[in-house]
Amino acid sequence: MHIKELDQKYVAPTYARFDLCLVKGEGSHVWDDEGHEYIDLGTGIAVNGFGVADAEWIAAVTEQLGKIQHTSNLYYSEPCARLAEQLCLRTGMKQVFFSNSGAEANECAIKAARKYGETKLGGKTTIITLKDSFHGRTITTLAATGQDVFHKDFLPLTEGFVHAEANNLDDVKRLADENPCCAVMFEVVQGEGGVRPLTKEFLQGLEAFARERDLLLIADEVQTGNGRTGELYGYMNFGITPDIVSTAKGLGGGLPIGATMLGERVENILTAGMHGSTFGGNPIAAAGALNILSRIDDALLAGVRERSDYIWNELTGTEGVVSVTGLGLMIGIETEKDAGEVIAACREHGVLVIKAKHKVRLLPALNIPMDDLKKAVAVIKEVCKK
Ligand SMILES: Cc1ncc(COP(=O)(O)O)c(C=O)c1O
Repeated sequence: MHIKELDQKYVAPTYARFDLCLVKGEGSHVWDDEGHEYIDLGTGIAVNGFGVADAEWIAAVTEQLGKIQHTSNLYYSEPCARLAEQLCLRTGMKQVFFSNSGAEANECAIKAARKYGETKLGGKTTIITLKDSFHGRTITTLAATGQDVFHKDFLPLTEGFVHAEANNLDDVKRLADENPCCAVMFEVVQGEGGVRPLTKEFLQGLEAFARERDLLLIADEVQTGNGRTGELYGYMNFGITPDIVSTAKGLGGGLPIGATMLGERVENILTAGMHGSTFGGNPIAAAGALNILSRIDDALLAGVRERSDYIWNELTGTEGVVSVTGLGLMIGIETEKDAGEVIAACREHGVLVIKAKHKVRLLPALNIPMDDLKKAVAVIKEVCKK
């Protein structure tokens, strides 16, 4: 049976897949099972930050694979400890809990905030999140997600979340006055919500308000993290310091990993037996992540910003493009044509792009060669104007 038929028969149909089966890749190039080649500007939704089959990452992962593939969290393990050290040194956070996905990283962030509210704020446990946010698909992270469309059919969700208008500090303040709150959770660029950045003014105002009210700031850096926005973590673009940072996607370079970084105010808030994950901190995923993190240096980040500027300059004001939004290499393009039509036409011309709400979304590899980027952007421009 063809892979497509097998998948349609046996895999739960929760994904509206493109009619495309990818089988291999090299850097920013991927091939389908019919031998067609594409320039990939989606990177598996911001996961393959250094492209496909990256030699250094493969070497790091396979070296660890030859030593020990899994230990369980009953024992100490070097890649896990070293990765936690690096994450803390690079962010100023104090401790890390490892899991396997973005939703799980957020679950841990939420548990830590709840425990803080319970023990330090006299039982205030409501968390403010933003409208149009996306925090995951578990019942609790769905509750955190400020989009009703994802809630439908899965009620009742976990209690204790209220949703404020993005970039509206007065709305956050209103909700904080009306509810017993312990935290505010946000993405500095709302990815699934349509690649919509929060403003510096809002984020800095939010930080000041959170300090005044003893609310924790939780940055969901699942999509914005690990170099994607031109800084190691997206919040670093805005001069704010969150108390909890969750991340996943690009950290693993293609292997599943989630990380919840806990700052000073929540250091030691989670103690033995309070949280856990069989695969969390897995040596192979951690070894891959260590390699990825070590390569997100100033030169790489400058390259991300340079590529971002190129895309913005090329696409802003061009025929058929209504607007360009985002930060770094997380870019949303509002097109005159239907986004689905643009995505399909790009694919026909050998370029893979994805969607975010009604926009075309670009999440290229952080190190995509300029030549590939130029070719791909030329295709997008051509497709948008036709
Ligand atoms: C900001 C954000 N948070 C959380 C998630 C959920 O991550 P995962 O699919 O790894 O559970 C996503 C996924 O797109 C995301 O973009």
